Amino acid sequence: MEKSTAFVAPKAVLFDAYGTLFDVYSVGLLAEQLFPGQGQALSVLWRDKQIEYTRLVSMSHGTHYQPFWALTQAGLRYACKKLKLDLSPEAENRLMNQYRHLSAFPENHGVLQALKERGIVTGILSNGDPEMLGIAVRSAGLDGLLDHVISVDSVKRYKTTPEAYALGEQVTGLKAQHIGFVSCNSWDALGATWFGYQTLWVNRYGLPFEELGTQPHRIGTNLRDVLSLLD
Ligand code: LAC
Repeated sequence: MEKSTAFVAPKAVLFDAYGTLFDVYSVGLLAEQLFPGQGQALSVLWRDKQIEYTRLVSMSHGTHYQPFWALTQAGLRYACKKLKLDLSPEAENRLMNQYRHLSAFPENHGVLQALKERGIVTGILSNGDPEMLGIAVRSAGLDGLLDHVISVDSVKRYKTTPEAYALGEQVTGLKAQHIGFVSCNSWDALGATWFGYQTLWVNRYGLPFEELGTQPHRIGTNLRDVLSLLD
């Protein structure tokens, strides 16, 4: 685990949802069944396009905002067209339904429980809209372990806008420097560091961090490394 020196133990820990608590690439299995040989390519392009759309609509300052569910569907349609896959309404329904019930990473439960036992406020701060997040949290059995489920939908700006990250301060009543922020998405860990959170980037896939001159406070390899934020 890499550590930086300027570190204050947080009173609350907020998690990104998609990619961090929920495995966005778990749709790849169904995608592979529906489109043999293309499942992985589809799940990667789908995710990339979904995130690209969040940035596009955020740059319209809310004028062209659409909820994350709609952007997820638009990303799927784009990815299929680009890969020349014939997306029937039935296949679209099945893939979107799978997205609603993404697999949760196995260590989530124990980590959230350990944070609660230490009196740490816990929450999600996500681009997901409230309905999507509610279903994902319930189907992963995490509802009793999260004090806050914060969706950017209320400000109609996606991460990495400061308005989106500011919701974490507003909802917890704490300053960013007293809040840990955990994401497996390097761009999100970067945006949260810029905002002022104490960040942990969980590098599940052995990727390089963003090359924009800012490093997260800590880097780990799975969610259990969150507990090191408290040292
Ligand atoms: C989230 C996605 C973008 O905010 O990872 O949950």
